[in-house]
Amino acid sequence: HPSNHQLEEKSILKRAECRAKGGAPGFKVAILGAAGGIGQPLSLLMKMNPLVSVLHLYDVVNTPGVTADISHMDTGAVVKGFLGQQQLENALMGMDLIIIPAGIPRKPGMTRDDLFNINAGIVKTLCEGIAKCCPNAIVNLISNPVNSTVPIAAEVFKKAGTYDPKKLLGVTMLDVVRANTFVAEVLGVDPREVDVPVVGGHAGVTILPLLSQVKPPCSFTAEETEYLTKRIQDGGTEVVQAKAGAGSATLSMAYAAVKFADACLRGLKGDAGIVECAFVSSQVTELPFFACKARLGRAGAEEIYQLGPLNEYERVGLEKAKKELAESIQKGISFIRK
Ligand code: NAD
Ligand code: LMR
Repeated sequence: HPSNHQLEEKSILKRAECRAKGGAPGFKVAILGAAGGIGQPLSLLMKMNPLVSVLHLYDVVNTPGVTADISHMDTGAVVKGFLGQQQLENALMGMDLIIIPAGIPRKPGMTRDDLFNINAGIVKTLCEGIAKCCPNAIVNLISNPVNSTVPIAAEVFKKAGTYDPKKLLGVTMLDVVRANTFVAEVLGVDPREVDVPVVGGHAGVTILPLLSQVKPPCSFTAEETEYLTKRIQDGGTEVVQAKAGAGSATLSMAYAAVKFADACLRGLKGDAGIVECAFVSSQVTELPFFACKARLGRAGAEEIYQLGPLNEYERVGLEKAKKELAESIQKGISFIRK
């Protein structure tokens, strides 16, 4: 009898061949931190994505159980689990998209920056593996503090000579998801009809919703603007406090991560007009990274859009955001350079 491993290898090859022949796209996706609070529902949702043909689940704990469980779902993607640092390279080899929710989450009273000391090292190690094994993959980085972990990843890739700024994307989709939800509540409409650009970064005042650019066009009173901006900026803290020590947003984050990953895969496939906000390398401000609307295509974030006209409230917010962002970005860069 062939071993489980041989069967798995055979089925992966068979499915990839079959997809190649039919011209149907099938992307290979790895999730690093797949056994965590975000990782598990994210793995579940990616297993349901018809654009995914191979799904690699990597973590330093519990991946065999999560993988066995998810692999019984009767959807197309073939799932394979990888446990521990010695299996990182096999998890990464040949992947088109890497999603990284590895790292510790906040507890009440902590800022995202308080996670830096532990998560910076985790992101560094994972990105060294990516540079070695799949330097052309698109990277969706979720681990906090995103404002610093994205610069860390960029520095690791630069050091390895593999840095492609279009392919490194800090995931800020949860800010957009929250903004759409809270704005829809105020307007009394279905959140699916609302599109709120959120720019800047992913922590407190660096999260800058552009309420003057909401689609469909609408207007807010000064009180509504203040309420919505604060609620969107503090959305993560709202969940951290409600979970009271049991972690931060996981389910809404898995939803947001899949929404963003799916947009990246549709871009890779060649679909036109895919535009989402992400924390990327940009020349939109004087800062080297900034969350902006980006057009996603075969090469990653192929076009970064300007901020567009801001009102006075947003201009003041932008200055505050840039001040904190500059420090967080520098902290990430220094972590690798020194
Ligand atoms: P969690 O503790 O539930 O899960 C994290 C997982 O990472 C665990 O399974 C852990 O074993 C794994 N891990 C730790 N070190 C690793 C390593 N070296 N390699 C691979 N895996 C490793 O945490 P969570 O709630 O899933 O949150 C994960 C991260 O995502 C946190 O840093 C959190 O702040 C961040 N987050 C970001 C956003 C965002 O919008 N970008 C939203 C929510 C949470
Ligand atoms: C979020 O916005 O929910 C995440 O960044 C997690 C956190 O610490 O708030």
